[in-house]
Amino acid sequence: MNISIIGSGYVGLVTGACFAELGNKVICADNDAEKISHLKKGSVPIYEPGLEELIKLNLKNKRLKFTSSIKAAVQASEVIFIAVGTPALENGEADLTGIENVARAIAQNMDGYRLIVEKSTVPVETCAWVKKTIATYIKKGHKFDVVSNPEFLREGSAINDFTHPDRIVVGVESIKAKQIMTDLYQPLNRPILITNIKSAELIKHASNAFLATKISFINAIARICDKVGADIKEVAQGMGLDNRIGRYFLHAGIGYGGSCFPKDMDAFITIAEKLGYDFKILKAVRDTNEEQKAFVLQKIKDTLWIIKDKTIAVLGLAFKPNTDDLRNSPSIDLINALIQEGAKIKVYDPQAMEKAKKILKNVVFCKNAYQAAEGADCLIIATEWNEFKELDFIKLKKKLKRALIVDGRNIYNPKLFMDLGFTYIGVGRGNG
Ligand code: UGA
Repeated sequence: MNISIIGSGYVGLVTGACFAELGNKVICADNDAEKISHLKKGSVPIYEPGLEELIKLNLKNKRLKFTSSIKAAVQASEVIFIAVGTPALENGEADLTGIENVARAIAQNMDGYRLIVEKSTVPVETCAWVKKTIATYIKKGHKFDVVSNPEFLREGSAINDFTHPDRIVVGVESIKAKQIMTDLYQPLNRPILITNIKSAELIKHASNAFLATKISFINAIARICDKVGADIKEVAQGMGLDNRIGRYFLHAGIGYGGSCFPKDMDAFITIAEKLGYDFKILKAVRDTNEEQKAFVLQKIKDTLWIIKDKTIAVLGLAFKPNTDDLRNSPSIDLINALIQEGAKIKVYDPQAMEKAKKILKNVVFCKNAYQAAEGADCLIIATEWNEFKELDFIKLKKKLKRALIVDGRNIYNPKLFMDLGFTYIGVGRGNG
């Protein structure tokens, strides 16, 4: 099929590259001309495992093209995905200006039937607005359908999530739209759930909100574990073995972050409010997440007593491993809180250093974990990169001024560290 993807951010690029890899002819469009000129050369502005290779391969095969002309993209494709950003407004609502602009541009440039697929995370009823907007600006009465096809990919494993999704959700209003979408996704051979448009839109927010709820729930249980001397890893394992609960998203830590959960929680709470429902559960989930960051800071204070002038090494800056994304990263929040308390901060992250240099001031950027540990009073694991699991802990101990480790992601065995002579502080590992 001839497909265009409007918006070359995370979702747009992964979707475009993967559809091209499946044999479609794909045009990715973005109004950022500089970004497009880099992409044309195969240079990808984000770190996502496998993405650059896939883009380069499909550029070479001529199945993937980039353009800053939305007109060219719309005219060349029967199926048009909208994958533009929906950033948060001050009041928590999603800013849908980008979606409206794209809908209008599609309408003005259509020269025949088009299937418009909404993929950005949007409030329920956005597709209805897209439909109205296109109908308002369309020329010559061309026919079109609007579809909701929310994306569930995670940063760091986006390609695999696209090619092996648990389900593909497609909200449609016409048989023709259903047929095109089924044909498009059929090569993946994964379950396709066809729903009405509003249900599909809600599935996205409901899923992210539910996952965030699982995280805040397990973080709350971790607080109880610390109080009574239980181990959250064992508790989560025992809960997760129940198929009704499931073992995923039960890792306690320093809170969830990223470009999705915090924003989507705010948006969903605001949507509910507008609809006349006070979504108390989600408000508590959000508060628990904020408290979790403060709680980890308090743990550090309880051990170091005075933070001022202490040197603290932070390993991991990205909001999760296998990405260089720093948006709403709990690690960055923690670092800023420590700086406010007067700490001297040394940092290291395997991928996010360049981006971090643009937003973190007055910290020492180190080449590796050992350099960060050199002379530090405390070492914090803020992101669970695999390379931190394989450090030489004896070497690390020698570098530290004080053998204190705050394992904010529970990646280590506390006993091992205590045997090596470290003071080990985890999240819900039963040691206060
Ligand atoms: C999330 C969803 O998982 C995707 O399905 C969805 O498509 C995406 O948002 C989106 O809406 O675009 P993502 O934000 O990339 O994906 O990353 P996750 O793996 O979900 O992690 C989110 C945050 O939760 C991270 O800060 C992570 O460290 C934290 N987390 C996750 C925990 O603290 N504990 C867990 O058990 C799992």
